[in-house]
Amino acid sequence: MNSIKIKLTKENDFTNIMDVEKQAFGYDKEAKLVADLLKDKTAEPMVSLLAFHDKEAIGHILFTRAYFYGQKEQPMMHILAPLAIKPKYQNQGIGGLLIQTGLKLLQKKGSKLVFVLGHKEYYPKFGFIPGAESKGYLPPYPILEEYKDSWMVQSLNEKGFDIGKGKIMCCIELNKPEHWRDDESDR
Ligand SMILES: CC(C)(COP(=O)(O)OP(=O)(O)OC[C@H]1O[C@@H](n2cnc3c(N)ncnc32)[C@H](O)[C@@H]1OP(=O)(O)O)[C@@H](O)C(=O)NCCC(=O)NCCS
Repeated sequence: MNSIKIKLTKENDFTNIMDVEKQAFGYDKEAKLVADLLKDKTAEPMVSLLAFHDKEAIGHILFTRAYFYGQKEQPMMHILAPLAIKPKYQNQGIGGLLIQTGLKLLQKKGSKLVFVLGHKEYYPKFGFIPGAESKGYLPPYPILEEYKDSWMVQSLNEKGFDIGKGKIMCCIELNKPEHWRDDESDR
């Protein structure tokens, strides 16, 4: 799609971000999570991007800080959550553009690894490798065997996966257990 602009979000983009999240998911849970994450100091440094078509905000992506649980060495790592494109604009490459732009910015910041828990047919198009657990990166909470491929990782550094292993912990807000189970009653 032509004339798509991607920009780093500022405080005055908050209403647009909430609007994109609510429309994309069709319920408020993700919008509430994003509002909490944007205030969470342990999520920093984060990358929050909005995609605009003319003046309309149509997509949002958020990467927040991830940590090794209980380890002293803490290379900079991130997790992608959530990614949201308004229904009218889905399947036009905007999600992909937001992911690729975000990954470049994270690499510039010095982030070494990026994780995502999501559609296993989608994220590998952008370099994520399914089955991060088999590479030595346990998710914050156990994942059912049939969803193990949905926990993915990619390296943004020249040492690849040679920079430590362990259980991943997210920032305070994203590490809450309710974000790690698929329970429709939460929505
Ligand atoms: C999933 C989502 C982020 C994808 O963004 P998008 O801009 O629509 O997707 P893109 O245009 O970048 O990519 C399109 C490709 O991804 C595939 N795709 C789109 N949504 C998918 C899904 N839910 N599962 C698997 N593949 C998907 C399309 O089939 C298409 O494949 P093709 O390139 O082989 O034709 C978007 O549809 C969305 O916001 N959905 C609702 C919220 C959501 O589920 N967010 C993700 C949470 S993990």
